[in-house]
Formats: sequence, structure tokens, C-alpha cells
Amino acid sequence: MIITTITDLHIAPEGERPFDVDTRQNFLESLGMLVRDQSDLLVVKGDLSYRDADEKVYHWIREQLDQTKIPYRIIGGNHDDSSLLASVFGLEDHLHNSIELYYEEKIPGHHLIYLDSSIGSFSQMQWNWLNEKLQEEAHLRKLIFMHHPPVAASVPYMDKNYPFREQGEFERLLKNSNLHVYVFCGHYHVEKCILSPSMSCFITPSPFFNIDDTADDFKLYNNIPCYRRIQLTDSGLNTSVFYE
Ligand SMILES: [Fe+2]
Repeated sequence: MIITTITDLHIAPEGERPFDVDTRQNFLESLGMLVRDQSDLLVVKGDLSYRDADEKVYHWIREQLDQTKIPYRIIGGNHDDSSLLASVFGLEDHLHNSIELYYEEKIPGHHLIYLDSSIGSFSQMQWNWLNEKLQEEAHLRKLIFMHHPPVAASVPYMDKNYPFREQGEFERLLKNSNLHVYVFCGHYHVEKCILSPSMSCFITPSPFFNIDDTADDFKLYNNIPCYRRIQLTDSGLNTSVFYE
């Protein structure tokens, strides 16, 4: 099975070109690339909107995704409004307390867990739910999709200014679970892989812009269409990022 994932689209209102980037074109080209990859499932990992949640933008994205005919899942990022996402994408059943959009699904051998870190942390309710889900059917490989990397990632600008604020809690939860989980996230606008005994964390780059993580402050690295492919196999998984 092949899962593809794309993140941090940051689609601007029509006619706007933030940082002189055509965010719609870069998204459409990324989508074209992953359609050719014949993926079985597409996960959109948040920051659909350029700056503020925008209903018109969400509808436009939905139209483009529907046209691919690939089943897809959506989670929210810090530039999204989870309740608006739920209403535009028909995910109201997964909206908790009107603000958090989190859910799960099981496929042969795997448990896919979609979390909502859009406010940079989880409610107690979401922590409890995640804890429960990690303990369920431990023989299934756990794949977690969330917008923020749940650990520091040696990207100074992002680690300093926009980290997930409950990294310690995440680490404690994983240690107590005795599992090794696979986390797929975005938000940091880099391509990176962070390995620890309890977690393999893969950050997917953004087709809007990526940053140079060797710099202490914000420094642009590139802005080109891209996506990540995850291939699930009987013995494990492999993953690569593709650029235009
Ligand atoms: Fe973000």
C-alpha cells in the first residue's frame, strides 16, 4: 500500500502571491506528481490556508482533492480552523469539543492515528484518547499523522519560535507505551527525519517554501512542488520525498 502526504500548502486567496510564490500552482503540481504515483491514500497534514482559515480556499482545495479520486484525510495546522475544516470536508463526526479534529482508522497491519495540534498542544481529552489508542491492538504498527513535529528537530528558527509545546508529555506517553511509533508531520518547512528509541519522526517539506535549517534565523531554502511517499510493507515501511 502506498500512502502519499502533502503539508503546508498555505493556499493564498485568489490573485495573491505571497513571497512571489503561486501557492495554487505549486500545490496543483505536487498533486499531479502524487497522482502519477498511484497512491492508495493521501493525507493532507495541515496549514491548508496561507495565513488565516479561509472557507473559500478550503472549498477550492476540496474540489482539487476530489478530482484526484484518491481517498484522502485532512488534519489541521496552526493556520487552520479545525471546526471550519470539519464542516467543509464533512468531518463533523470527528470534531471534539467543537475545536479539535482527531480520528483513527485501521487497515491491515496498521493503525493510522490523525491528531490535531493546531493550537500547538493537545487538550486533556485528546491526550487521553491518544493514550487509549496507543494501547489498543499493540500488534498493529502505529502511524501518527499530526501537523507539528512532537520533538525538537534542530531547526533553530522553528524550535525557538513555533514548537509543539508539549514535547515532554509526548515523550513520556511513548515511553510508557513501550511502542515504537512512526510520526509523519509538517509545520517546520524542512525535509527531516528524527530517530529515537520510541519514535521515527518524518517531517515533510512544504510546496510553498522551505527553510535552511543551518541558519539560526529565517533563511529561505527553496519553494518547489513536493510530496512524501510512504510505502507500507509486511516487514516495515520505507519513505521518500519527491521534488519537482
Ligand atoms: Fe504550521
